Amino acid sequence: MMTRRLPTNKRRSNPRYLLAALFLLLPATACGGLAAKIPDGAIDSGSDLLIAVASDTHYITDKINDHGDAFQRFVSSGNGSLMNYSEEIMETLVYDMKDLSPDAMIISGDLTVNGEKESHTRMAEKLRNIELSGKTRAYVIPGNHDILNPWARGFKGGSQYVTDYITPEEFEEIYADFGYNEAVMRDASSLSYLAAPSKDVWLLMLDTCVYKTNIEYENPAVYGRILPETQNWIRKCAELAHNNNARIIAVTHHNLFIHNYTLHYGYTLDNAEEAEQLFSECGIELVFSGHIHVQDIKNREGIFEVASSSLLTYPHQFGVLSYKPGEGFDYSVKSVDVERWAGSIGSEDANLLTFKSYAQKYYKDVSYNRTYGRLIDSGLYTENEAEEVAEMISALNVAYFSGRVDEIRDELMASEGYRLAGKSSEPEFLTRYTRSMLYDYGISNVSLRLP
Ligand SMILES: [Fe+2]
Repeated sequence: MMTRRLPTNKRRSNPRYLLAALFLLLPATACGGLAAKIPDGAIDSGSDLLIAVASDTHYITDKINDHGDAFQRFVSSGNGSLMNYSEEIMETLVYDMKDLSPDAMIISGDLTVNGEKESHTRMAEKLRNIELSGKTRAYVIPGNHDILNPWARGFKGGSQYVTDYITPEEFEEIYADFGYNEAVMRDASSLSYLAAPSKDVWLLMLDTCVYKTNIEYENPAVYGRILPETQNWIRKCAELAHNNNARIIAVTHHNLFIHNYTLHYGYTLDNAEEAEQLFSECGIELVFSGHIHVQDIKNREGIFEVASSSLLTYPHQFGVLSYKPGEGFDYSVKSVDVERWAGSIGSEDANLLTFKSYAQKYYKDVSYNRTYGRLIDSGLYTENEAEEVAEMISALNVAYFSGRVDEIRDELMASEGYRLAGKSSEPEFLTRYTRSMLYDYGISNVSLRLP
């Protein structure tokens, strides 16, 4: 197995990999008694594997949402997510999975808007439909919105109303068939588990959320970390994977690396350095996260982290990870095809039937209007100038969150809006945030090849 993990001379000479090799040798002798309970249905060794990776679905069921005034006010205060079509987007994911027929589908947390029990229950039904429609097995972990969330609300007419949240025990119960019941190993200290969709590739599904004080503080914690007890458990998982010649992919809600230098407190794990060291020791080279809602791939010292954008935000994409024995991993992204789904059910909703352009315009308009308002409020821009700058920034936002700034960077930097945005260092939010998006050079955010 280690030979397969170290296919190049460069990797062989990397001290981190030597450390990983050393680590993996030690516990193999010290705790040789660990035995894997590989599920009966696990795909045989030497086979191809296809995994879909979605994140931050932020689903809210229509059972507790009448889309009335109260909900519209909630949507307008949001971040541009297409919450009005949450039900339809999730239904399209189910429909698309039927066609793509991946072996596994992962959702890396923030399954719901604010952890409403009704949304969780209905989400589990959708996951069941995915599993019933073919060979796909769904695996989920919680995000910071999902458990013990005191902000769980339903919407009726002009008012919000308090609705049930769920406990960690209920999360495990509701999603029993989507990870927990088929776990190879379960962490006793968190909702983390190890899954083996195939004998060659295992999923280390990590619960990085902090929710125990949410109710007392009347506020769901945003930040995350990997508990010391869970770190010890991860070492055991790595040992087991090593003994079974399996490669491990880690899945977390919170980020391992910094994906945006103005937006990382509470997003990147509080103990990210420790986690990076641990993953390195365990020979983990690929991590999927979510939380920040930005499609962004960062790598350091042989570890690649794919932060998946939110399924509920344009371009409503999920990742497709293909594994071929001897070749490794190939990752790309794909948008849910809402137009096709809407056609299949005979929908007459024009927004759904022209979803691609509707969803792009929706997201761009939210960004444009918000930026324009803040520029005018700053008193530093005329209306014409504010229009130019807001146009540039809304285009940048659309590209940035979907991981595609590279495609329009030159055009944006040549624009009048960019020139005007640079004429002042105020308002600071604008200049700092714009630079953080525009100057984020690096590897592709929408494709990855990992031998
Ligand atoms: Fe989220």
